[in-house]
Amino acid sequence: MAVSSGDEGTAGGAKIVDVSRRTALTLVGILVTLTIGVALGLGLGFGLNHNGSDSQSPNPPHPTASATWQPAVNTSWQIILSQELSINHTNPSITPDVEVFDIDMFVHLNTTIIHDLHKLDKKVICYFSAGSYEPFRRDSDKFQDSDMGNVLDGWEDEKWLNITSPHVRGIMSDRIDLAALLGCDAIDPDNMDGYLNDNGLDITTDEAVDYLKFLADKAKAKNMAIGLKNAPDLIPDVLDIVQFSVNEQCAAQDNCASFSAFIEAGKPVFHIEYPSGAGRNIAASASKRSCTAKDMAGFSTVMKELKLDAWVEYCDGTRAYTNVVD
Ligand SMILES: *[C@@H]1O[C@H](CO)[C@@H](O)[C@H](O)[C@H]1NC(C)=O
Ligand SMILES: *[C@@H]1O[C@H](CO)[C@@H](O)[C@H](O)[C@H]1NC(C)=O
Ligand SMILES: *[C@@H]1O[C@H](CO)[C@@H](O)[C@H](O)[C@H]1NC(C)=O
Ligand SMILES: *[C@@H]1O[C@H](CO)[C@@H](O)[C@H](O)[C@H]1NC(C)=O
Repeated sequence: MAVSSGDEGTAGGAKIVDVSRRTALTLVGILVTLTIGVALGLGLGFGLNHNGSDSQSPNPPHPTASATWQPAVNTSWQIILSQELSINHTNPSITPDVEVFDIDMFVHLNTTIIHDLHKLDKKVICYFSAGSYEPFRRDSDKFQDSDMGNVLDGWEDEKWLNITSPHVRGIMSDRIDLAALLGCDAIDPDNMDGYLNDNGLDITTDEAVDYLKFLADKAKAKNMAIGLKNAPDLIPDVLDIVQFSVNEQCAAQDNCASFSAFIEAGKPVFHIEYPSGAGRNIAASASKRSCTAKDMAGFSTVMKELKLDAWVEYCDGTRAYTNVVD
């Protein structure tokens, strides 16, 4: 979420109740299985190396490290943070037929949706809040009260987090590991702009830059891309280490120029506007304001409701409704 949090906010995802204990159990199962798998794989790898001659193995013992994904300018996308995607396995397809889906990581823990999307040749960006405490996530009880600042304006159940706290960073590091485990191509860490808000922790832009560098390093180590959410003041310092921007409301706030630095650097701006009528019928004038604002050439614009559900309209007038779990 951005500047004045009331009007916008990806924390739309925040309104959803986190998936249940069953999820946690399933996930533990997956983790255990994977850990055993990796341990076996590594053990086997080492064993073979030990038993073999000095000749180089044609295959490295680790899974092959692929390059971090760099999406192109004008990449098409859809973002859904308040609902769980649903794909029919009998006849797999997804609407709209865009290149990228940005989805709430915690809502899809007990599903294979990310792998299903990959099979459909889609890239997946996994959303989580990096700068705010939400009480209903599976790891919420790990946060300490002393790491929390003020309540977020417009999102009463969330609190700003002390982003310099090693404890907070540890939890976020675990979240990034989880994203990697789920197969996410990239992460979309939200609430990087505490410094613009009455956060109660005296968060500075320097701290926000340092925090983003921390998150970007972790993501890179897992071969995942990372986006900068809003936070225009950080762009000069972090443009080189992030692969895309996720922006809310630059047209409505008349500050698209800041984000166009991404386009010049060959990186996409995944741009969301929340015009009135979204979810039903957006008037031509409102659509025009969202789609033809100053300095937004090359942006990947979607028009959405604030709750970021399955409904989307694009600047060419196309509307779609992604299949989600009821
Ligand atoms: C941007 O992508 C859309 C499809 O999503 C395509 O119709 C359009 O031509 C592209 N624009 C440019 C400048 O490549
Ligand atoms: C899945 O798709 C198949 C084939 O199109 C259809 O027969 C079936 O009813 C669908 N299942 C659900 C749950 O929608
Ligand atoms: C995941 O868990 C939620 C909450 O228990 C449940 O509603 C949903 O159906 C589950 N999804 C799958 C694919 O099991
Ligand atoms: C935030 O965390 C750092 C590191 O633990 C600590 O030094 C600082 O006092 C904390 N800030 C607030 C406002 O509690």
